[in-house]
Amino acid sequence: MTRQRTFIMVKPDGVKRGLTGEIMKRFEQKGFSLLNAELMTMDRSKAEYHYMEHQDKPFFGELVDFITSGPVFAMVWEGENIIEVSRLMIGKTSPSEALPGTIRGDFANSKEENVIHGSDSLESAEREIENFFGLLGRRRLEDDFPFEDR
Ligand code: TYD
Ligand code: MG
Repeated sequence: MTRQRTFIMVKPDGVKRGLTGEIMKRFEQKGFSLLNAELMTMDRSKAEYHYMEHQDKPFFGELVDFITSGPVFAMVWEGENIIEVSRLMIGKTSPSEALPGTIRGDFANSKEENVIHGSDSLESAEREIENFFGLLGRRRLEDDFPFEDR
């Protein structure tokens, strides 16, 4: 039994195309649990930290432009071997390699704008969750307030 947390993000193209619900449905149907979620527009420093492993690649600038171009739906999901399993559900980066039945295989036709991100290792999951949601990925208790607070 290896219970893990991972960082999953619907990218700006996926949010614009209305794919957020379909993607969440697939993770729920698989039996994974949603721990946290937020619709947000990333600033460049958050995006550059998120994609730091690619900072020397020729596509880095355009990648940061794209990922900050509109709202993303950032999520923390939890479940058995979720880091490996979610990468299988997401499919390969290249549209010619992403198999039908995977999220990218079914919905993406571009290597640059490919609908969804998922952490590829325990180390990146920890770093990415921390970048968006703090150390444990949980909503902080002090953020919880009644609908009417008086
Ligand atoms: P990568 O980590 O290789 O892919 P994945 O998202 O499957 O882990 O690359 C990160 C993102 O960078 C990828 O989702 C889309 C973008 N990208 C490009 O724009 N051009 C490229 O040639 C590659 C390899 C990736
Ligand atoms: Mg990657």
